[in-house]
Amino acid sequence: MNKFLSKRSLYLLCIALVLFGVARLYYRLTDDFRFGNIDYELPFESQWQLPPLNPEEQQQLAAILDQKFSYLGKGAQCYAFVSEDGLYVLKFFKFKHLKPHFLVDLLPSIPPLKQFKESTAERKQRKLMSVFDGYDLAYRENREDSELLYLHLVPSENLHKKVTVVDKIGLKLSINLDDVVFLVQRKGETLRTRLQRLLNEDNIQEAEKSIAGILEMYIGEYRKGIYDRDHGVMHNTGFVGDRPFHLDVGKLSKEDQMKQVDVHKKDLEHVIWKIDVWVKANYPQHYQTLSTFLTEEYRRFTGETYDVAAVDPARFKKRRH
Ligand SMILES: Nc1ncnc2c1ncn2[C@@H]1O[C@H](COP(=O)(O)OP(=O)(O)O)[C@@H](O)[C@H]1O
Ligand SMILES: [Mg+2]
Repeated sequence: MNKFLSKRSLYLLCIALVLFGVARLYYRLTDDFRFGNIDYELPFESQWQLPPLNPEEQQQLAAILDQKFSYLGKGAQCYAFVSEDGLYVLKFFKFKHLKPHFLVDLLPSIPPLKQFKESTAERKQRKLMSVFDGYDLAYRENREDSELLYLHLVPSENLHKKVTVVDKIGLKLSINLDDVVFLVQRKGETLRTRLQRLLNEDNIQEAEKSIAGILEMYIGEYRKGIYDRDHGVMHNTGFVGDRPFHLDVGKLSKEDQMKQVDVHKKDLEHVIWKIDVWVKANYPQHYQTLSTFLTEEYRRFTGETYDVAAVDPARFKKRRH
């Protein structure tokens, strides 16, 4: 009996391991991009009414969306696809983490599960609304710095447009754009990719120019009261040609007090520290020069001294968004 049991347990363990392996492989190969993850019936009345496009913009959008889009990448909130001409990015919202897990939905609505279900739904809805708020703010008040061409936060019936996307493993999917939340943005190069390219060529001068461009963009945004709660400056900002831009605006926020140097300098310190840490880890041979440059940039914008090399990492790691 015991022998039978152990054989059986071994058999079940093998099946579990194979299933786990298959699931891992599936996620690795596809990033779990599927229609079910970008489709969601919003559980609330939408409050985001965006200004309509003028006829010229409409034509431009239609021409962009006539192209096929191929998988580019993902973050925590979006799946991104690039157009055939390489100039545009189409992003779909990844509702996976922004809606309650289907198992939570299946729980019966009886105490104490009811409270758990409700608080989970509330938390997810708050998160979702905060991402939508970020995109809405970027589209209305920071469109140029975000290189946004179109934002569709509210399901509609008048776009009558289908787009073909090719996923990470080469499968084609036709998506009716009226049904989904999406945005169209110019394609750029992330700050990380750009600095890698320049620093691999030891082109310090251009690297400094690029960093200065990104920091100037942050200062311009602070002056409008706008700031990014996500300090992932290396992968969430970049350049379209030589224009710096904020490619991920899911955590963009606005507070009037941010216009004051004494308030926004703390955010700037965090951004500068992120760049400093990245250079130190990846290009130690250029660290001294670029760290000094970052300190000088801080002085240029605030008139104060900030020794970025002496910052205790705990200062920023503890921060919550
Ligand atoms: N406009 C763009 N140009 C070039 N790459 C982009 C662009 N938008 C997104 N990406 C790539 O896709 C990734 C995920 O997009 P992002 O908007 O940051 O999604 P999330 O909000 O989920 O983090 C980015 O880190 C970047 O590598
Ligand atoms: Mg991102």
